[in-house]
Amino acid sequence: MLQSVLMAVPSIKLHDGNTIPSLGLGLWKVKDELRFNKMFDSAIKNGYRHFDDAQTYGNEQLLGKSWKRSGLNRNDIFITTKISPQHLSYKSTHASFKESLLKLQTDYVDLLLVHFPGPSWLRKNKWRAIEEIKQAGLAKSIGVSNFNIKHLQALETYAHEMPVINQIEMHVFMQQKQVREYCRMLNIQIEAYSPLAHAQLMNNPKIQEIATKHHKTYSQIMLRWCVEQSAIPLPKSTNPNRLKQNSQIFDFELTNEELNQLSRLNTNHKTLWRSIIAK
Ligand code: A2P
Repeated sequence: MLQSVLMAVPSIKLHDGNTIPSLGLGLWKVKDELRFNKMFDSAIKNGYRHFDDAQTYGNEQLLGKSWKRSGLNRNDIFITTKISPQHLSYKSTHASFKESLLKLQTDYVDLLLVHFPGPSWLRKNKWRAIEEIKQAGLAKSIGVSNFNIKHLQALETYAHEMPVINQIEMHVFMQQKQVREYCRMLNIQIEAYSPLAHAQLMNNPKIQEIATKHHKTYSQIMLRWCVEQSAIPLPKSTNPNRLKQNSQIFDFELTNEELNQLSRLNTNHKTLWRSIIAK
């Protein structure tokens, strides 16, 4: 039973040769241990193996405890963490990453991201530290988050190794076409955070109509839209029923007409971080 659920989540090959499950669980804001444990157990039961964490989420320790308790082998799960925007320098990137490994109770992460671009004069050295972490085998893959085209262009001038991932806010109401197109040209895989627009816009009649037609839920249409755009959605939920629902998005397809209808819903509705990533 579990095997069939797991097989339903396809993997994607990254440009460094590693693979990544095409659905992940967002862990933002889940700091209560009991809630975290319940969420993690329910996620495992429903076939999630990809956990998207960050230093700023304040729960790397809880993820470490949960996966150890689960009895799963380390290579059965995919762990991402992100260097906090607080850790701007080369030195604190290395130091804080060591702490992350301890908290996560692991020798390596599958994916390490720079959480925010940060000040331009510090970016180069921060990326150098990230590249060194990868070279040392402590992160299998490396990438960025919240990078726009300008940030990526600057990175191209100094990176020895380009990111395999750019994790951005992306959903039907914030489609991010330009940055996605730029990443496609560079072979950078997109991950979509807040793929449900933080549940802020759950009453669009067009999405509801498409959901009814497919006997799916509103959220499943939003997540499937990400998959059809070749993005990896990272929905967050602590509710077991919604967790399950959010994983059942690989057994149907949207038609071209539906995709066209959905592409017209873009309003650049940004749920988070408006000011931080503007520059
Ligand atoms: P909850 O944790 O109670 O399920 P996003 O991933 O876009 O940031 O959205 C997260 C928000 O969406 C959370 O408030 C979460 O609440 C809610 N959510 C997650 N999955 C669903 C779903 N299937 N239907 C409705 N709301 C959902």
